[in-house]
This record gives sequence, structure tokens and C-alpha cells, in this order.
Amino acid sequence: MILSTTSYAYCVFVKYVTGVVFAKIMVMRILGIESSCDETAAAVVEDGHRLLSNVVASSMDLHAVYGGVVPEIAARSHIESIMPVIDEAVRTADPNAVDPWESINGISVTYGAGLGGSLLVGILAARTIAITKNKSLYGINHVEGHVYANFLTETSLPGYTLPSVQPEFPLLAVIVSGGHSQLALFQNHFDYTLLGQTRDDATGEAFDKVAKILGLPYPGGPSVSKKALEGDARAYMFPKAHLDEPYDFSFSGLKTAVLRLAQKEAGGDFTLPSTELPHLLNDQQKADIAASFQRIAIETIVDKAILAFEEYGPKSVVIAGGVAASPELRRQLSERLPITIHYTDPKLCTDNGAMIAALGCFTALHRRPTADPYRLAPAPNLSM
Ligand code: KG4
Ligand code: ZN
Repeated sequence: MILSTTSYAYCVFVKYVTGVVFAKIMVMRILGIESSCDETAAAVVEDGHRLLSNVVASSMDLHAVYGGVVPEIAARSHIESIMPVIDEAVRTADPNAVDPWESINGISVTYGAGLGGSLLVGILAARTIAITKNKSLYGINHVEGHVYANFLTETSLPGYTLPSVQPEFPLLAVIVSGGHSQLALFQNHFDYTLLGQTRDDATGEAFDKVAKILGLPYPGGPSVSKKALEGDARAYMFPKAHLDEPYDFSFSGLKTAVLRLAQKEAGGDFTLPSTELPHLLNDQQKADIAASFQRIAIETIVDKAILAFEEYGPKSVVIAGGVAASPELRRQLSERLPITIHYTDPKLCTDNGAMIAALGCFTALHRRPTADPYRLAPAPNLSM
């Protein structure tokens, strides 16, 4: 299973002895597969920066009626979608090829963190393809993968706005998703330190819970964001958590403060069931609560990011994970940081295969160990 890496090394050698003439053959084309939560996704990326295809099938609509992801439904839905999604990603990456698999050098797949049943579907698909098509296999950490969405700088796919340059090291990564909130300082690829993380809810999880309190549709991030546009962000003063560890986050207090305020505004006390609140609050109250909550939740992240920027002086800052799609996060960060941030397309912030393929490219290019296609197993609690 080292065939592709070997051929890449050969290309580097050819380039070295012949100059730029053969540089064109030195490509690393990786298929990335992602199935850790409710998105079944696959994409092909070349050399860690060129996005050739990106296919995402979401089972979000099936979960919306339950107000959150139902693991059993997610896993079943991955089983139905995984092969069509992979097939489309590989075909659209090389539409004129007789066999589009030929140009794929390796497969990278999310093996954690995530839902066990969901991860298993993507992993088994990747393992099977790696064996039958004799491709190298790379296991990818989902959270690290999110950071690599920022390394995509080129595509001919319609509808994407990508940064024109890759972020420079040292790089401060602000990772904010539905399952994770972390600040990490990367000195280089595969060389990073975790500065801090959430002690309780992830940022996206707080948005999802506040959406439920306000009766806004799942997923909560985009719907709270949208509702907040009609509200006054200073109508209510919610608390910010102050922790001993400067780079750790906490959102559970903020979420409870929103619940208590909503109960009070609805004319009840703390015993008023949260399920009744959406009917007792008017539209303006909901919009003001959404805007005031969003301001504090985002400020909490931005405060920590600015603190880390001032202490470590990184050359670049990236935001990653579903909450990185938030216009409010982009606005506050750009306003307060003294350097320019090159934001990626919001479609590449929520779960996708492109970020997994991008990190897969760097994993292959840096000759990191391949995964055993007979053994790679889900690691639901994998940490950074
Ligand atoms: O990264 P992601 O797709 O999945 C995980 O790895 O968790 O992130 C999903 C999270 C959800 O909690 C969703 O509510 C949040 O990202 N999200 C947003 C926005 N778009 C998605 N949060 C705030 N503002 C948004 N515009
Ligand atoms: Zn994610």
C-alpha cells in the first residue's frame, strides 16, 4: 500500500534530475471520504490546494423533525448514499477519463471523532476501495481536517469563493463546530499544540440548543444567525464565562442564561417547560434573544482568539468548523485582528470531503504512515 507514495517520490526524483519539464507529473490526487455525523461526503483534491470535486449528501432533513441528529438514522442514510457520493466525486474530478480511478493516488477517510455507526460506513467503504483498487489509505482526524479546508485555494467548480493564498505557519486555528471548540497553534503541518478547548458545550451545540429554546429550525447555527438579523444584539446582557485557563471555553452557563431569560420574558419562572417557550415569545423577543446570544457567543471565541494572537504572534489565523460559516464571527474577527484573514467558502466550513482530502494530500506528501486497510477502525472519541 505504499505504491502511490513511492511513485510520488519517484516524480520528485525525476523533477530533481530533469528540472521543471517533468514537474507536471508530480501530482498527489487524493479522494477524501467523510461520514462522521449526518453528512455523507466525498471530494477529490490535488496537491493539497486544488479542489477537483466536492459532493455532499446530507440527511439533515430527516433529523430536523427530531431537533438533532439521530445516530441510527444517520448511519442508515450513510449506507444508502456512500457509494453514489464517492462515485460522483471520482467521476466529476476527471470527467473525460475512461477510468477516473487511475489518477487517484490514495484515499483518506475520517476515522474519528464522530458517531461510531456513521464513521464505520465511511471507513468500510474506504477500506474496501483501498484493497480492491490497490490504493494507499490514510486515516484522518476530523477536527484536524476542518483546519485544512483553509488550504484549498484553487478550483474550477462553480459557486466557490476560495482564498488565493494558503495560510502561513505559525498558524492559529480557531476550531468551532457542532462537536468541538478548540484553539490550536500550528508550527507546521502535523506539529501543533492545543491551547484550549471547551469545558462543556461546543459553540455550534450552544447555537443548536438556543434555536430549540426559540423554536427555530435545526440546525440552529444558520437559523439563529438569520433570526439575529432582525434583532437588537444589545437588547439583553448575557454573561461571558471567565475561566482560570485563559484559552478554555464554556458555553453551558450562557445557554442556561438564555433559557432563564426566555422563561422570564414569557412570563414564567424556571419551572416553565422550555417546549412551551416558542409559543409564548413574540417574534421581536426571539430576534432580540438570538442577536444578543449570538453576540456574546461569538465574542467569547473572538476574545480568546485575540488573546492567543497577542501572546503567540502567529503569521496567520484560520477559522474552521461549521460555526466558521457565521458572518458574525467573520465580522468580529476581521474588525479586531490586526492582520487580514482569508476566509474560505462557507460550504467548506460545515462537514465535507474536501477538507479530509486536503489533509490526506499533506499526509501523503509528508510520507506519514498509511492506515492498514484490513484494520482501520472508528475512534468515536478521538481528540486532537
Ligand atoms: O462542522 P460541522 O458541520 O459539524 C461538526 O463537526 O460538528 O458543524 C455543525 C455546526 C452546527 O452546530 C451548526 O449549528 C453550526 O455548525 N453552524 C453555525 C452556522 N452554520 C452552521 N453556527 C453559527 N452560525 C452559522 N452560520
Ligand atoms: Zn465537523
